[in-house]
Formats: sequence, C-alpha cells, structure tokens
Amino acid sequence: MEVFRSISEIRQAIARRGGGRVVLVPTMGALHEGHRSLIEEGRDLAGEDGVLVVSIFVNPTQFGAGEDFEDYPRTLDADSRICEESGVDLIFAPLAKEMYAPNPSVKVIEESVTTHLCGASRPGHFSGVCTVVAKLFNIVRPDVAVFGKKDAQQLAVIRRMVHDLNFPVDIFGVETVREDSGLALSSRNQYLEAETRKDAAVLRQALLAAEEKFIRGERSVRALVDAATNRISSVGEARIDYVEIVNNDTFQPVEEIQSDAVMALAVFFDGTRLIDNIDLNLKDCLSSLD
Ligand code: PAJ
Repeated sequence: MEVFRSISEIRQAIARRGGGRVVLVPTMGALHEGHRSLIEEGRDLAGEDGVLVVSIFVNPTQFGAGEDFEDYPRTLDADSRICEESGVDLIFAPLAKEMYAPNPSVKVIEESVTTHLCGASRPGHFSGVCTVVAKLFNIVRPDVAVFGKKDAQQLAVIRRMVHDLNFPVDIFGVETVREDSGLALSSRNQYLEAETRKDAAVLRQALLAAEEKFIRGERSVRALVDAATNRISSVGEARIDYVEIVNNDTFQPVEEIQSDAVMALAVFFDGTRLIDNIDLNLKDCLSSLD
C-alpha cells in the first residue's frame, strides 16, 4: 500500500496499476468499523486486478462557522493501518492547499435533494461535499465509488450529482454499521463521554419505535415523528435538531407515507451532533405482513 499527498502522484500511481477497475472510498479519516465495511466492499468491487483507493481528507468547505473543523480527529497513522489490513492499494491524503487553489470560484450546488434535513440545518454543507467529491472523482477517475447509508441524504445528493453532471461512475451504498447498543458508528462518537454515548443509543430506539408503528400500519408522518421525538425526549440532555420523514428518492417531506420513505434525524448530545436514519419502505412492510 502506498500513501500519496499530491494529485499528480496519485494519478500516476493509478495509471501504473494498469487496466483493472478503479474503486474509490472517500473519507475524512478517523476510520472506524463503518469505514472498514465500505473499504471491504470496495475491495470486493475492485477484485484482484482492480485498484482500491481510499481518500482521507478533512474537507474544510463542508464545515460551517462554529462547527468542528479544527477539532475533527486526524489520525493518519492509525487510518493507514486499517487501510493496510483491509486490502487498500492506494491512500490519497492531500493537504488542503493541494485540493484547493487560493480563492476557488467554482463549486457544485445541488438545489433539490438538499433543501431539507442536514441541507437546511447546515447551509453550504452539501455544496462543500459535492465540490470535494466532484474533485476526487476528477482526480481518481473511479469506475465505482462507495458511500455509507448512514449519511442517507449525502448518498442521495451524490447520486443526483453523478446523474445530472454525467460522471462516469457507479455509486454503491453500504448499510450502516452500529455498536451493540444500536448507536451508529461515527468519527464524532469519540467526542462523547461514556455516559452520553450510552444515552445516544436512544436514537436507534427512536427510529425502531417509529418503524414498529409503521409496520403496524401507521402512515401519518406526524404520528411517526411523535413516536420518535417522544422517545428521544426521554433523555434529558438530547437536543433535537430535526426528526423528519422524506420521500427516499427526492428527499422532500411527505405528510403521509404512500411510497418508500426515510425517517432521518439529527440530535445534539453535549454539543455533538449525531445523525441516523431508517428506511420506511412500503413494499418491505407489506411483505413482512405476508
Ligand atoms: P466520513 O464522515 O469520513 O464518512 C466517509 C464514508 O463513511 C461516508 O460514505 C459515510 O456515509 C460512511 N460511514 C460513516 N459512518 C458509517 C457507518 N457507521 N456505517 C457505514 N458507513 C459509514 O462522509 C464523509 O466523510 C464526507 O462527507 C466525504 C464524503 C468524505 C466528503 O468529504
């Protein structure tokens, strides 16, 4: 495995590897088992002849003012070990000045999938994500790129960008990896005290409470959202940013579930913002009643 910091070097290294499939797993590092699952999926997708590239870059343009850009964990040595163990061929870990020329004036803005949820509470966030992912696609030129379903809106935005801008890349989504408690793994979980980390498992419980009602036939978004928020509110320190149900394709809010939907939430625990989601699919629901 090799680690590259410059765009020209990573391009040359990929070219040297020859004709196999190029698979990219974009990350911001501080790798955990969730990332490892993406990387392992990437290895399978690349096959023996392919090239598996992991990018590690804490992208400044997707952090808002007052967010945790400065504090975000940077652990390149530990990350490299995980990559090595998981069969990564090349790591691309550029410095910010390599990725962004001074005063860049072009960015990618998605205007539909991003209007609610994290797009609404973190203005500019998805433009930062789309812009850096577009740059990574142009630098690495992957055949396939792998993203986690934990960031469901991000996955939908990337799919839309690839479709609308004709990037020649297949997007592959991977299921969320969780702790035994149900808490979704996140690089930000390390900000939490042990007690708070236990309390944060309420997010999964809230999503499951809503799912249970849904499976029993509840279709009203208000009732389902109430079930989840009541559960979260039982934990005193939890401060809800949003709990919403959206169409799983458009990411627009619905009032009643009439096709496949996603319940997504963002909740602060002691200043740390955690997100999670669950699919509320009508067809799965009908088949579970068979
Ligand atoms: P990061 O938060 O490091 O996540 C990198 C990838 O890992 C994303 O696709 C994310 O959905 C996935 N991931 C994170 N936690 C996961 C979990 N518990 N289970 C499964 N997958 C998980 O997302 C980003 O970085 C950035 O926005 C990026 C796309 C790299 C652009 O800067």
